[in-house]
Amino acid sequence: MTMQWWRDAVIYQVYPRSFADGDGDGVGDIAGIRARLGHLRDLGVDAIWMSPWYPSPMADAGYDVSDFRDIDPVFGSLAEAEALITEAHEAGIRIIVDIVPNHISSEHPWFKAALADPEAKERDYFWFRKSQNMPTNWVGEFGGTAWTRVDDDTWYLHLFTPEQPDLNWEHPDVRAEFESILRFWFDRGADGIRIDSAALLFKDPALPEVVEGQPHPFHDLDAVHDVYRSWRRIADEYADRALIGEVWMPDVERFTNYLRPDELHAAFNFDFLGCAWDPRLMRDCVDRTLAAHAHVGAPPTWVLSNHDVTRHVTRYGRADTTFSFENNLDGTPVDLELGTRRARAAALLTLALPGSAYIYQGEELGLWENEAIPHDQIQDPMYARRGHTRDGCRVPMPWSGDEPPYDFTTGAPWLPQPAEWKDRTVQAQTGDSRSMLELYRSAIRLRTFIAHDFAWLDRGEDVLAWTRGTDFACVLNLSGAPVSLPAHRSILLASSPLDGDLLPRDTAVWLRL
Ligand code: GLC
Repeated sequence: MTMQWWRDAVIYQVYPRSFADGDGDGVGDIAGIRARLGHLRDLGVDAIWMSPWYPSPMADAGYDVSDFRDIDPVFGSLAEAEALITEAHEAGIRIIVDIVPNHISSEHPWFKAALADPEAKERDYFWFRKSQNMPTNWVGEFGGTAWTRVDDDTWYLHLFTPEQPDLNWEHPDVRAEFESILRFWFDRGADGIRIDSAALLFKDPALPEVVEGQPHPFHDLDAVHDVYRSWRRIADEYADRALIGEVWMPDVERFTNYLRPDELHAAFNFDFLGCAWDPRLMRDCVDRTLAAHAHVGAPPTWVLSNHDVTRHVTRYGRADTTFSFENNLDGTPVDLELGTRRARAAALLTLALPGSAYIYQGEELGLWENEAIPHDQIQDPMYARRGHTRDGCRVPMPWSGDEPPYDFTTGAPWLPQPAEWKDRTVQAQTGDSRSMLELYRSAIRLRTFIAHDFAWLDRGEDVLAWTRGTDFACVLNLSGAPVSLPAHRSILLASSPLDGDLLPRDTAVWLRL
């Protein structure tokens, strides 16, 4: 594999709870992942990003970490994690671990010490404030208040749930601890780090209210860049390690500040993820992305789904195809056939653009959002605060068989799987050339031959078409009607059958020129 592998890698997100269960308790684990590594090898991905697998009370599905140097028993052991890293490397697959620096679990020894004794040095690792009333009216990232009162009028800050107290990144011990955690995982062979909530680490100590037009008190404060510069120096001490930021930021210039040459290697393109299925908006988004990343010399990324957002088969099957947490579309009508058709085209779109592409587990199977989870089974803490649950995209993978749990587990899966997924299992799709899985396998295989250079081809406003080098083109028809194709030698791949010589609506093709 090439150096600077993150520049064009296909990176597959494993959500450990829901990938495969090895011990029958209904929750996915490392044993399950090791047993199913062949699926990822056959798919042809370059790297796996593992959502958190550390010891955690699971107040936020593991994003509330109580020990960054071990594995939660529900997922296995540190020895198993090390074995997985070795086996993945043997299969030519790199491993990216998820580090959550903004907050830790309220069960972490630091927070327990801080709570037990107001004089403890650990108090300063967090944002404790004495105040009669709530220190600010900040709204947390899941909605709801951002402060919890402990006793005698003392409060602590948590931008997420009360079980996730925010760390004070002004404190040198906090910085030193995370630098040591980075080394811990790099020393164990991790090839990259995904950085959770990367833009939230610093807070304005004066604790001003959020006022439109004023600097934000906790989003994207400049001091955060100094942390990532120090992390970059650590990554550079090791060979070929990548830092990948979860940076939600509407301002593209502020976003790419995180990707300057001495900071992170890459960041998720949420601008693209939230973009409507619309020719003008998509083209603008691609242009914006390419220009901004070129400016700092960082690779663009293309992301359609992850464990926090509505699966794109569902999104693209709605009248409103955008995504944002503010605009809750849960339960609005979905045309799954249309969504699937567009998702197939989107796969060829993202895998043919320059940069690296992310695949969220199950998207290669064309899974849709399970919007029918009974309320009393919903576990996502966002649900109580915002009325939206992320559990619908976290439903366990269907591997084989005709009915749930589709060989995900020998027990009862932690979230219910739809009965309609029997034709979406890996087994059902393998060898079926019309299946989503075979489309992804072919596209990832062919992608390795795609040249670097990118240029738009003019096929009218409603068609996105571009070349990569002299002998490859991708054409995506976002108009409502069939369109003609540019001259070509052969069709390498099509997301839906062609209509004679015409490219039907919501269809993408890869052409050999
Ligand atoms: C990130 C994670 C999300 C988590 C939150 C708090 O956004 O992707 O799943 O709930 O951070 O850690």
